[in-house]
Amino acid sequence: MVALSDFNPFDPAVLEDPWEFNRRLRSEAPVYRDPNTGITFVSSYAAVSEVVRDHETFSNRFGAAMGGASMPEEVREVANEGYPAVDTMLTADPPEQRRFRKLVNKAFTARRVARLDGKVEALANGLIDRFVADGRVELLSQFAQPLPLEMIAGQLGVPTDDLPQFRRWSDGFVAQLSGMADLEGQVNAARMILEFQKYFAERLEERAKEPRDDILSDIVNARVEDERPLDTAESLSILQQILVAGNETTANAIAEGMLLMVKHPDQRARVLADPSLVPNLVEEVLRLATPTHSMWRVATRDAEVAGTEIPKGAMLMVRYASANRDESVFEDPDRFDVTRANADEHLAFGLGAHFCLGAVLARKEMKLAFDALLARLPEARLDPSHEAPKHRPNILLRGLESLHLQFAA
Ligand code: HEM
Repeated sequence: MVALSDFNPFDPAVLEDPWEFNRRLRSEAPVYRDPNTGITFVSSYAAVSEVVRDHETFSNRFGAAMGGASMPEEVREVANEGYPAVDTMLTADPPEQRRFRKLVNKAFTARRVARLDGKVEALANGLIDRFVADGRVELLSQFAQPLPLEMIAGQLGVPTDDLPQFRRWSDGFVAQLSGMADLEGQVNAARMILEFQKYFAERLEERAKEPRDDILSDIVNARVEDERPLDTAESLSILQQILVAGNETTANAIAEGMLLMVKHPDQRARVLADPSLVPNLVEEVLRLATPTHSMWRVATRDAEVAGTEIPKGAMLMVRYASANRDESVFEDPDRFDVTRANADEHLAFGLGAHFCLGAVLARKEMKLAFDALLARLPEARLDPSHEAPKHRPNILLRGLESLHLQFAA
């Protein structure tokens, strides 16, 4: 049997199929300092929960620890043309993190999201209308990505015509986060981020002159601590997080959910026979697919978790996807079971101070997406003229490259 230290977490094969590595981590060392990378992997449900609940010891200020000094000169040159990367929600700690979060929270409350029901449903069906007569679809680009993207663009208040650019920018942010981009990829990602900044800095200026009923105007009008307005760099950081955190993850969850149903016709048949199972299907998909596979933390002081010492300054990778398959919490954890009683105990949205801002919206979009897909493509299957679906290599965000399906036209 290979030793734990023989696993390379950045190996594309391990990224495609991280489950054996995660299982070995949980059983042998739920808190494990990898001698090759220096990263401390946190993998059991208990250890992940303990770490993310303790935001004083385990900080989200990982932006500076990761980028900064290690950024290649070519990338820095491009980045210097734009606004500086500042820490707002995801990469800040309480109490600053709460101050930023409060400013956009109201757009994502259950009450505000409930008003979007009709829009999400119409959008989902409208997207299906465009390909249903073809008998085949690439579900990621034709459905799973445009659905959350168009919803968030509507909320932000940007025109639908601009959406193709959003997709490219989002890819740039994801490449930056992937931990896998080569120098050319990193420079390209920095250029995409620059374009994004220019576009939104202009939109923010427009809203400052002429406010509307949208999130961009909320951001312009926001006052930190009832005092100063957000500066442009802070506003852009918040927008970037909403754009990436909101789109990639939800798109990945919808595509993975459909793949799970296609691969498990018995489970799909149960939901088709009893659509009241869809909300639990959403939780089970989040548990098994966990789009935010991992997240970073930095130790602010010496600590001990699960009997393992963690020195001040250690970079921790919290493996949410592994916690969600912890056999001490979820029985037969690799099995896809739409009736699983405790599916909603998953940590796919995190826990504690940084618990996902968009969880209500994401659940809503997934539920209505699955309702529409099940009703209109009840027998969809993998399209045999394409290779088996693969994942994009990314150390943090897990998602399919594409999902080609076939069905009766
Ligand atoms: C299935 C879809 C989604 C998943 C799996 C997901 C997952 C997560 C996770 C795990 C975190 C915690 C990160 C940490 O522990 O540091 C988080 C935070 C966050 N999410 Fe989501 N998310 C999803 C959808 C969304 C949507 C739709 C939005 C917004 C429109 C959003 C916005 C955010 C933001 C802004 C944060 C940072 C919050 C903070 O640090 O205070 N997410 N998300």
